[in-house]
Amino acid sequence: MSEIISMFSHPVVTLDDYPNSDAIADKFYEKSMALMAQYPDAGLISNAWHSGKRAESKEDYKKHGFTSFYNVNLSRRDDFDFMNKPAMAAFAQYMRVVGKPNIGIRIDSAWTSVYGRDHFVPQHTHPMSHLSLVFYAAATEGTGKLVFDNPSRGHFQHFYPPEISWLQYRFSVQPKKGMFVVFPSYLAHNTDPHESDDFRVIYSANAQLQFSKPTDADLT
Ligand SMILES: [Fe+2]
Repeated sequence: MSEIISMFSHPVVTLDDYPNSDAIADKFYEKSMALMAQYPDAGLISNAWHSGKRAESKEDYKKHGFTSFYNVNLSRRDDFDFMNKPAMAAFAQYMRVVGKPNIGIRIDSAWTSVYGRDHFVPQHTHPMSHLSLVFYAAATEGTGKLVFDNPSRGHFQHFYPPEISWLQYRFSVQPKKGMFVVFPSYLAHNTDPHESDDFRVIYSANAQLQFSKPTDADLT
């Protein structure tokens, strides 16, 4: 008998049956459109993303796509509770699935991104955060995959070229409307270009796990 032992994994958890996810998605879509109309100087994605460049006019959104990341923290907005609460539940579900159900979680930041045709997000991590998630308020089937890079890739790519490698360089997730994807924030990821004229709208959030090591003095 032989057995494969998957020794070290970097779990990513999807959740596609959150109650009323379709209605939540539609409401978030509408509110994202309102944010895009409200802020003429928001952040840009695609080729403008790494520079941190902000829009000079709304024309820039057509060219590059839109993110509210620099303008407003949606995790602090009561009118986004309908989205932040399900996100909290999705983070809690991740912690249950990985066997750490009793750890406190705090959402630190949340934002929306709107992609038009050919828009994408280059590879990045979410620094200074423990867990991150995305929720797809609008997604077209067959486009704009979320692509995770294997953190071990730098170690084995040199010796195992694709022709002989059984070790995956990347793993792709096909987004669909109403789906959450929760992942450790250190995992480098990107999104493939969006090949549709329908907007692709995403809620993203970063969370901290609550941890402090008590000393003897704290316990007396
Ligand atoms: Fe990201």
